[in-house]
Amino acid sequence: MQKELNKIAKDTNLFLKRFIKKQKKSELIIPMQYGLFSGGKKIRSKILIDIGFLFKLNYRSLIIIGSAIECIHAYSLIHDDLPCMDNDLIRRGKPATHVKFGQSTAVLAGNSLLTMAFEILSHKDLNVSEKIKINLINKISESSGHLGIAGGQYLDLSYEHKRISKKRIIEMEIKKTGKLFSFCCAAPLILKKMSKNEIKKFESIGADIGLLFQLADDLIDIKSNSIIAGKKTGKDKLKGKATLISLLGHKNTIKYANKLILKINDRLKKYGSRARKLSETLDYILNRNK
Ligand code: IPE
Ligand code: IPE
Ligand code: MG
Ligand code: MG
Ligand code: MG
Repeated sequence: MQKELNKIAKDTNLFLKRFIKKQKKSELIIPMQYGLFSGGKKIRSKILIDIGFLFKLNYRSLIIIGSAIECIHAYSLIHDDLPCMDNDLIRRGKPATHVKFGQSTAVLAGNSLLTMAFEILSHKDLNVSEKIKINLINKISESSGHLGIAGGQYLDLSYEHKRISKKRIIEMEIKKTGKLFSFCCAAPLILKKMSKNEIKKFESIGADIGLLFQLADDLIDIKSNSIIAGKKTGKDKLKGKATLISLLGHKNTIKYANKLILKINDRLKKYGSRARKLSETLDYILNRNK
């Protein structure tokens, strides 16, 4: 798994470095690169590639789309660490972007990474029809805005120190994290010009994968340590974050996550052995320590 993730990270970073190099220089590029090239597992790109494998899609196009996704992800982390949000100092084992460059610069570098995703998807480097590009941009926008990351982050913060139902916690986790995974699962089908109905099915699988990913992240906060995780651990309880762990407890959350894996695998059964890679990624997601 690690070897595959390293290859994806290498190919993604190479594409992004070349893409940025072709642009005019600006003062914001340094903090943007700091947030973008600070590490990161590239799990979202891995899911995109695993789903692409089901449909025998071209690796190069997936790396370009994955690069756009990683820009949005990096933006979301820069903003997530700001004092007005989670107020964290360490990200990926280094000072958070706002610690290094100041808050206003971190906000603007984050904004610029978000919009860079749209530049990448609309650029000629991505060799697909304009119609497909519009569909990709439409879906990734939806995943990032008030119905996705931004909306979910809003709920995450407004739920702090409150008792929140299981249904609402799940809705929040799916928005803040799941929707970007929905895009990862939908993008290959958009490339293949599959039906709206099929795309919807994969978006729903993606939401479950994203929920699994966030549950595992919530578990890392209690089971891992700051050195391995590269960010402060044991912080969710102190911040009064509404997580499934805070509501159901540690054991039941692991049970719930295992059930999610069974459910996702079951929906991919018809792809036979081609779905094995994705299945392995799901196990990695739940069992990781960082
Ligand atoms: C952390 O995401 C934030 C969440 C959405 C839970 P990752 O764990 O994918 O962060 P990196 O990219 O590997 O640092
Ligand atoms: C972050 O969730 C979700 C985002 C969309 C950025 P967390 O706040 O739990 O992520 P970490 O634990 O700080 O990485
Ligand atoms: Mg947060
Ligand atoms: Mg956080
Ligand atoms: Mg977390």
